[in-house]
Amino acid sequence: MRSLSRCSGLSLLLASALTTTLALAQPAAADDSLYRALGGQQGIRQVVDTFLPLVLADGRIKDNFADFDLDQLNLRLQEQFCELSGGPCRYTGKYRDRTMDGAGTVRDMSSVHQDLKISDAMFNALAEDLLIALQQQGVAQGAAFRLVAKLAPMQRDIVTARAASATPDMGKLLATGGVIQVEGAGGGGIVPWALISGYGTRDSWGANAHYTYLSTQDYQLASYGVAVGIADRLEISLADQQFKGSLAPLDKLDIRQQIVGVKVKLAGDVVYDQDSAMPQLAAGILYKRHQRLDGLAALGVSKLPQLGARDDHGYDYYLAATRLMLEHSLLLNATLRATRANQMGLLGFGGDQGNRMRLMPEFSVAYLPDRKLAIGAEYRRKPHNLGIDHEKAYYDVFVAWFPGKNLSLTAAYAVLGDITTFNPKRQRGAYLSAQVGF
Ligand code: HEM
Repeated sequence: MRSLSRCSGLSLLLASALTTTLALAQPAAADDSLYRALGGQQGIRQVVDTFLPLVLADGRIKDNFADFDLDQLNLRLQEQFCELSGGPCRYTGKYRDRTMDGAGTVRDMSSVHQDLKISDAMFNALAEDLLIALQQQGVAQGAAFRLVAKLAPMQRDIVTARAASATPDMGKLLATGGVIQVEGAGGGGIVPWALISGYGTRDSWGANAHYTYLSTQDYQLASYGVAVGIADRLEISLADQQFKGSLAPLDKLDIRQQIVGVKVKLAGDVVYDQDSAMPQLAAGILYKRHQRLDGLAALGVSKLPQLGARDDHGYDYYLAATRLMLEHSLLLNATLRATRANQMGLLGFGGDQGNRMRLMPEFSVAYLPDRKLAIGAEYRRKPHNLGIDHEKAYYDVFVAWFPGKNLSLTAAYAVLGDITTFNPKRQRGAYLSAQVGF
């Protein structure tokens, strides 16, 4: 009996080991969550049925589809979306090698599109139409972004042409130019990002004007300016900041500085590199010069050095890395800034506590619940150079709304830390910014 039970125990053990081994040998179950989120085969058919009429009505790209077999295209797109989303279909391609009945050459995205002279703006127009179709079919935004994340890297195969037009093409995807941050550069509210401002693709250019108003308990900061993005490579910005106090003894405080910015995109693409960990990288310089320091006569101060600052002008140098993870509806940014600026330069550069360039990290994270909306938070560390100012990090939480490519509105709650020892209260308040452009 005992040997029997030992024997059956052993076989149980063997059986369970075998089952585990077999289970491990099975290929992992395919992830079909996106396929299901798209509504399965029927949902995908409805999406493509909505998508193609949008494409054929889209003046930016409709001419490309004249003379092609749209029923075939419809079926191939259904197959492609189904396969890419983890569904049980296979993209067969219209021109497969018949003798090998599908096992042979299947035309890939590159050979299908190579003669069509497709530019970045056209590629993005099609992606926008797809996002609209997905929305019209009630597909959740996260799933819509996941599908576009799978298609975006195909830009490398599909785009073969450079459009040459003097008129701005407004060809970038909505929101991918970012907004204008408080020093005039393209980015979030307080952090410059690696995005190039405006909606011009690499074949074109774009420009923006912004007005930003920030009001804490005891100070107000107004900033306005323009930024131009050229060939999605170079950004030039001009901003004017005015900073005022409203609490004695700084109630007459009136500071003005101007900022000229230049940013160059170095590598990566925030939209097309969805299949790699490579962020979009950019390097930038902000040149800041004081124009005015008024209202401190009661304290016997009329010049920045009397506050302890060494200079009334200075440079910030930064390196920014921005990653748009459409798969997760997230945008992440990290910026490293070398700076001597006190309160962004409003209180001059360098000081009695330190005068050398310091490296300061800045971070932003944004969640995209909708293609027109970004909700996020930012953090920006700052040097502490002045004895009269226990300067602290800035941070904020923000909502940015992009109703269209000509307008964006940002609202934030910002915390600016202490500003000067004359007024040792943590400054916090509302940040509002409007941006118009193309
Ligand atoms: C992510 C972007 C795109 C994807 C996933 C995509 C996908 C496809 C697929 C699956 C086909 C069918 C190929 C076949 O018959 O086997 C196709 C064909 C075609 N695509 Fe695209 N495409 C994209 C972008 C574009 C753009 C931007 C245009 C033009 C503005 C375009 C124009 C065409 C045309 C005209 C055809 C028909 C070609 C033919 O029948 O020979 N596509 N595309």
